Amino acid sequence: MDLQQVKNDLEQRLPKARYEHVLRVTDTAKKLAEEVGVSVEKAEIAGLFHDYAKFMDKDELLELLKRDEEYELYAQYHAELWHAPVGAMLAKERYGVEDHDILQAIRFHTTGRAEMSELEKVIYIADLIEPGRKFPGIEELRQRIDGEPLEDQMTECIQHTFKFLVQRYAVIFPHSFDCYNEHVRRRKEQ
Ligand SMILES: [Fe+2]
Ligand SMILES: [Fe+2]
Repeated sequence: MDLQQVKNDLEQRLPKARYEHVLRVTDTAKKLAEEVGVSVEKAEIAGLFHDYAKFMDKDELLELLKRDEEYELYAQYHAELWHAPVGAMLAKERYGVEDHDILQAIRFHTTGRAEMSELEKVIYIADLIEPGRKFPGIEELRQRIDGEPLEDQMTECIQHTFKFLVQRYAVIFPHSFDCYNEHVRRRKEQ
């Protein structure tokens, strides 16, 4: 795959700030992948594509989503979530990305899920902590997870996301609950 071509495409599709976020996520994902022994090449592709569909029109997203096996579920939740499965769909259809793990990493980068692969966790974490992120508590989160096993990093990140969502009375997507519960159970067993 010609990654420069993907970058050019992204630059056209996304506002400048979002494009730069994508580059920082990709960079962060590659470093984390290297640290934890995940394929850096796969992390790069998943990182580049993770927000591919982020700025598509809501109606267009919904139309594409109709072909998704979880359409009924996604359609009941916030449109903010739709770019993730559609991004995976377009990476496959427009760029021939066939690798299931890469596609899943794109698909679940916003919600997480139970039984995430290592690559999925790398992309989820990189999206949350890339150096451009400025939310309250981000520095503490970065320090807390730095150098920790990937699974523990993911536990901290999903807990952080839950705190954030609950504080805002946000509706929580079922896969995110599954992810959170899995990590809390694992921690209790330790
Ligand atoms: Fe996203
Ligand atoms: Fe993102």
